[in-house]
Amino acid sequence: MDNNPEEDEVASLSALFPSTSSDEDDDGEIVISAQQFPSVQLHDEPVEQLDIYPLSSIDATVVIRQLRSLGISFQLWPAATSFVNLLNQHHSNPTTSPLASSVEISSGRQLRILELGSGTGLAGIAMAAVLKADVTVTELPHVIENLQYNVEANSEMVTKHGGSIVAAALAWGEIDHMETVGRDFDLIIASDVVYHNHLYDPLIQTLRYLLIGCDEGKERKPLKFVMAHLKRWKKESCFFKKARKLFDVAIIHSDSPLDRSRRGVSFYQFTRKQA
Ligand SMILES: C[S@@+](CC[C@H](N)C(=O)[O-])C[C@H]1O[C@@H](n2cnc3c(N)ncnc32)[C@H](O)[C@@H]1O
Repeated sequence: MDNNPEEDEVASLSALFPSTSSDEDDDGEIVISAQQFPSVQLHDEPVEQLDIYPLSSIDATVVIRQLRSLGISFQLWPAATSFVNLLNQHHSNPTTSPLASSVEISSGRQLRILELGSGTGLAGIAMAAVLKADVTVTELPHVIENLQYNVEANSEMVTKHGGSIVAAALAWGEIDHMETVGRDFDLIIASDVVYHNHLYDPLIQTLRYLLIGCDEGKERKPLKFVMAHLKRWKKESCFFKKARKLFDVAIIHSDSPLDRSRRGVSFYQFTRKQA
């Protein structure tokens, strides 16, 4: 990608922060209030914020550094915390959990998970610890330094609970990045990655590479993509329309609406269409 990361951050803000604070859209476009999102103001100097998130199911905590003044990639979004809540529920009730069919593996080996657009990395780090999984969290190259910071801050906790965590650069649609990361995974996850229409095609291209490319001519179980998503714009239906041409898409769980909103985070499961 040739884009300037700072310009991208500013452009992306308008996709994540509808310009009205009203839930009632005049033009039929906005479906959720801007009040549901963390505030972002871009500054030259990063302002550091360390937060601790409990993994109640395994009696552990994740430490996350946010650099919110640097833009959307450096802060935590509501769908990531929903992922952690669902993981904790899964740990308590693994057979009835909405994640049950996504996290099962056929052999007795460790689950291998790839996270796309990890941001600060909370969802992927929590997955590694709670599911004792080998997780690769990925991001745009300019975000890797902060993601790596969070990986290192939590790697001892993750290892203690039987998982592992690494960070890698993966810009959606960049074939070099996709080939470097590879597709030797059992599950792909993401939270809050559908927000800007110029990202729909690169994201779908990446999912196609991961979910369809790897299964061609093989008899392995189809790879699944589980995405936590908070709907903000009606135009997002365009992403799902494109996705449904390639994948079977199902909602496996929806949270209750967030405060002051009509909507909560929903979890979508994508699998390649069966022939
Ligand atoms: C709204 S944030 C969500 C971050 C994190 N998953 C969370 O829920 O807190 C969207 C993330 O997608 C990443 N992203 C945007 N465009 C991308 C691209 N082309 N390739 C890879 N990641 C991208 C951004 O850097 C950002 O961290």
